[in-house]
Amino acid sequence: MLKSLVQQDPRIPRHVAIVMDGNGRWAKRRFMPRIFGHKHGVDALVRTVQACADRGIEYLTVFAFSSENWKRPNDEVSGLMSLVLVAVSKYLTKLEKEGVRIRIVGDRNAVSERVRSAWQQAENATAHNTRITLSVAFNYGGRWDIVQACRRALALGLRPEELDEARLNQFMALSHAPDPDLFIRTGGEMRISNFLLWQAAYSELVFTDCLWPEFGEAELDAALRSYASRERRFGGVPDAQPQALQA
Ligand code: FPP
Repeated sequence: MLKSLVQQDPRIPRHVAIVMDGNGRWAKRRFMPRIFGHKHGVDALVRTVQACADRGIEYLTVFAFSSENWKRPNDEVSGLMSLVLVAVSKYLTKLEKEGVRIRIVGDRNAVSERVRSAWQQAENATAHNTRITLSVAFNYGGRWDIVQACRRALALGLRPEELDEARLNQFMALSHAPDPDLFIRTGGEMRISNFLLWQAAYSELVFTDCLWPEFGEAELDAALRSYASRERRFGGVPDAQPQALQA
């Protein structure tokens, strides 16, 4: 049966977004450098993609490197950049075989040619896949995204009256995905940290103390249970009949 004809269970989110926080603390507790935590964070990410796909989640978007992460010590920034190359060479074949389509969202201009081409390789090798779309936000910021979308709209010469929410959304970095239904942040902090500011307007938020390298099926299922218990109203009220537009 065509995927689009399969009835989607509304208790399962179509799109999950995750701020993968807590790698540094996880490493520190083991008297290891922060990059050790990020390495284990990649393994947690691969586990989570698999678990999401198994549960029928169609889109997973993760915050891997924010526009603000350049402020970190040089060795951590260069370690994270090298990790991209390691992660692509270690996991790309596996993810491709499992039906994962990889998309990179963020400002590619500031990253090195080697990192850019590793991301390009990951996107090209998985472009035909349809089981789950993994969007990796890298050198991404929610404010950057809104500004770049406005700039692209202006560059096309759109008139102010031609721009509405749906049109602007076409220029946003995640225009290939529906808005995230569920937004998870690990690591115990309760903030959005400039991730998906536009797209998360009506996302259900789940914050967990679990540090990202320890995130797995049990934590994902706990977040999904919480999501399934929420009443989503999108600004309306329960059981309201849609009002006819007044002339
Ligand atoms: C936040 O934890 C995590 C990051 C800034 C990086 C997240 C990156 C990964 C999980 C690796 C994914 C990489 C690729 C190549 C896909 P933190 O360092 O702020 O942790 P802390 O709050 O404990 O200090």
